[in-house]
Amino acid sequence: MTEQTVAQHKSRRRFLWVFGGIVVAWLAAALYPIYRYLSPQAPPEVFGEDGRAVVDKVTPAEVAQPGMGKNGAYGGRGLIVFRDAGGRLKAFDSKCTHAGCNVGFQGDRIFCNCHGGVYDLNGKNIAGPPPRPLTELGVVAEGELLYVFRKNGTGQSES
Ligand code: FES
Repeated sequence: MTEQTVAQHKSRRRFLWVFGGIVVAWLAAALYPIYRYLSPQAPPEVFGEDGRAVVDKVTPAEVAQPGMGKNGAYGGRGLIVFRDAGGRLKAFDSKCTHAGCNVGFQGDRIFCNCHGGVYDLNGKNIAGPPPRPLTELGVVAEGELLYVFRKNGTGQSES
């Protein structure tokens, strides 16, 4: 091998290392956002230090009488709040257990428009494709606000 040939080999090898490094860096930059998008992330904590979250878009006056109910939100999630025939205040996360659509309160049932899922007023799935009951939340009225908390979480009484 001549000196010129050895120099050409070194130059070609250096070029391949640099080019390979650029390709690897480009692939990493292109794939990292996809990896972050697809990797599961813990849901944000919506309950405060006292274990409760303020209910948005529903006031105690809007659920004051049996049969009254409304869709609202807590911590960026949907929920339904209503007062049942026995006068108990109830709340459920409104995420349907079938494919995640928002369910709605319809007086005598909870209904999901997406595929016709039906839940009773205890959140139990009774018709259509939902495989599980809705997630029930504890709910309490204090002054002009409603608060929800994890059922069995804080031991607060419903009102
Ligand atoms: S998402 Fe509710 S029934 Fe399908």
